[in-house]
This record gives sequence, structure tokens and C-alpha cells, in this order.
Amino acid sequence: MDRLRIIGGRRLAGEVQVSGAKNAALPILCASLLAADTLSLARVPSLQDVRTMLRLLRQLGVRESRQGDSLVLDATTLASHEAPYDLVKTMRASILVLGPLLARLGEARVSLPGGCAIGARPVDQHIKGLRAMGARISIEHGYVVARASRLRGARIVTDMVTVTGTENLMMAATLASGTTLIENAAREPEVVDLARVLNAMGAQVSGAGTDRIEIQGVESLHGASHSVMADRIEAGTFLCAVAAAGGEVVLRGVEGAIMDATLDKLRATGAEITAGPDWIRLAMQGRPRSVSVRTAPFPGFATDMQAQFMAVDAIAGGTATITETIFENRFMHVLELQRLGADIAIEGNTAVVRGVERLSGATVMATDLRASAGLVIAALVADGETVIDRIYHLDRGYESIEKKLGALGAAVERLR
Ligand code: UD1
Repeated sequence: MDRLRIIGGRRLAGEVQVSGAKNAALPILCASLLAADTLSLARVPSLQDVRTMLRLLRQLGVRESRQGDSLVLDATTLASHEAPYDLVKTMRASILVLGPLLARLGEARVSLPGGCAIGARPVDQHIKGLRAMGARISIEHGYVVARASRLRGARIVTDMVTVTGTENLMMAATLASGTTLIENAAREPEVVDLARVLNAMGAQVSGAGTDRIEIQGVESLHGASHSVMADRIEAGTFLCAVAAAGGEVVLRGVEGAIMDATLDKLRATGAEITAGPDWIRLAMQGRPRSVSVRTAPFPGFATDMQAQFMAVDAIAGGTATITETIFENRFMHVLELQRLGADIAIEGNTAVVRGVERLSGATVMATDLRASAGLVIAALVADGETVIDRIYHLDRGYESIEKKLGALGAAVERLR
């Protein structure tokens, strides 16, 4: 199992090219299932989760090829409507094939994802929405079994804001008869990117980016090409690394507007930030100031940035509270940060972080994707050597993280 060895204490300087967004690429890959045609995608990040999704799509009959920098998916004929447990269990986003398969083929059999490290994460809202659209759904032997000769447009109000739930229902509704209204929809930029692709394929989606998305169903969709949006979480992770370690970096290929909440909090740490249409520069002198955060659906502060800010707060001047409102068990990085010398106390869904002058390197274990990113940031500022074990979590969501950090002057090495 690969590990990451980091020698802390170096300032970071230079440029980073931001990759395409994992959380946009995954639903967009699934959108290919909707049309008996080809979807050509640029800027698909090279990540474990993307490879897992491509494996699932291949199993469903989608053929893939490369044309220059683009990935071309051909879903002209599909071979199966089943997403098996062994693929879904490794990546919960596999549930995103449910809506497209049902809409295109009239049936889908998708394994229930079950729990994961950061909490229960049920898919009841996906099922509720599809039922409202006329699908007959049962749970059999751990699988969601869904049938509908043709889905019907419906008004759906989700009980909570769910990102993949909104995406699944939006995709299903593109081929339904009549108009679907999704209320309390997720407003994440990745939902907007998916809507862009769907519309390029001939769908009629409006309102993406607001909490009310309207989809007028069409008979069929066709091929399209698209370039995946920037990964705002990868971008935010690099910015947090510089806020913690000090230095100056320019991120290329990302616009600040999709990450206002993160940039506001980074400014509050004392970082100096400037941004243009496709770049963000952050400079940090001295020790960051503590900054409290509370996670919320977009445009609030992203839960996927929580662990990284905890790492910044761990060495900041002052005391911060970090409140997690989206997932019930997303503080597993706390014990590992404590092994590096952080002073953090958990009270319910709030962590109280008292900044310490220094962290000291140790062996720590990655527990989930973003927790791992928090540990990398802590390791970059810790004295001496930190070895992060189980970095397959990191590889699910960060493209060549050791190369990108290395290019900024960090001492990072992958141990195989
Ligand atoms: C997506 C992101 C993930 C991010 C999360 C929250 C992808 C591939 N993943 O995950 O990186 O951390 O949004 O921003 O885009 N819930 C239910 N029932 C449902 C659906 C959700 O109870 O049917 C709950 C979840 O347990 C959680 C909350 O709603 O507490 C939000 O989850 P959701 O937005 O669905 O997360 P994902 O889409 O899985």
C-alpha cells in the first residue's frame, strides 16, 4: 500500500495547474448513458474514482477511446442495466448511474452503497424522487431495483439538499414525459456543469445553480462535447497548504467565483488573495490567524474543505470552532492531527481547535479522501518527517498530488 513521506517546514512557491473536478466528472461520465451516441470530454481528471466509474460504465456497455486530450464515451448500445456491489461499495457516486439507466432503458439494478467512513449517507431521496416520477422501485437482496416504461415529469421537493440526489433526478428527468421541477435542489457548481452537458446533449434544463431546477423532458438526447470545470476542492486544498506553510502560489485554470466561501475564510487567516478570470494567487507571510467555519450546502462553506481548514487552524494563532453539519462522522482526522501534536477537542458536531506553535512529524493514517488532504497540509508544516499511510484515499480525488506539491518546493515522496 502506497504511503506519502513529507518533510515539513518548507515554504511553497510557484504555479499549479488545477485539474478537472472529480465531483463534476463523475456525474458527467454517467450522463453519457442517456444518449445512443458519443460524448467527448476534455479535462477529465486522472483519478481512482474516475477509473472506477469508467470500469462501471464499461460493464454497462459503454465503449471508451481517446482523441487527443479528450475521452470519448460511446453508449450507442448498452449491454447491462446492473451496477454490482463490488464496484458500488468502493465508490458511492456509482449510484449516479441509477437515474440515467432507468430513463434510457426503463430498468436499473444498482447496489445500495451502504455506509461509509464519514457517515450513513443513505440514498432515500434519489429513490423518493424517481418514485414521484412514476418508477416502481423495490429493494431486493441489497439492490435498488427500478422499473418504468417511461418516467413522467413530477414536482419533487427533497427533504434535504443532496448533490448527487439532485444530479440523479436531473438526469432521469431529461428523458421523462412532461416537466419535472426539483425544489430544494443542490446549487453546487458541479450541478451547473452537469446541466451544461445535458443541455449540450439536447436536454432542456433551466435553473441549475438555484434551488429550483426545471427540466422539460425530451424524446432522446444526442452526442456532445464538453470540458469539465475546475476542481474547486483541489484548488482550495492547495491554497490551504500555502496558508499553513507560508509562501506564494498561483493556481491556473480556476476562477475564484466558484469558491467564494473558501477564499473569504482564507482571507480571514491573513492570506493575501488576488484573482483573475482563470487564476488565483495567494500569498501568506507569517503564521495564519485562526478562522472558524461551519459547513453548509453551496454557497456555504464546503464540507469537503473542512479537514483542510482544521489543519490550518491547528497551527494558527488563536482558537477556532469547526462545525460539521452535513456528515455526522467527519472528524476522523482529529485523532491523527492530535498524533502530530494538534490541540483539538470535539464537542458533538463541533471541534474546538487551539492553534499550537508547532506540530511534530509522525506516522499517521488517512481515513477518507478529504481527511487525507488535511493530514498532508499538517505534514507540510510539521517538524521533521511525517509518513501518511493508506493514501489510496488521496488518490481517489487528487491528481498527482506529490508532483504538484513537489513543484511548489515541498519535500514529498511516494513510498511504494
Ligand atoms: C456530494 C459530493 C461529496 C460532498 C457532498 C456534500 C459527489 C460525487 N460527492 O456527495 O464530495 O462531500 O456532496 O457536499 O459529488 N442524504 C440523505 N438521503 C439521500 C441523500 C443524501 O439523507 O438520499 C444526506 C447525506 O447523508 C448527507 C447529506 O444528505 O448527510 C448531503 O449528502 P449529499 O449531498 O447527497 O452528498 P453526496 O451527493 O453523496
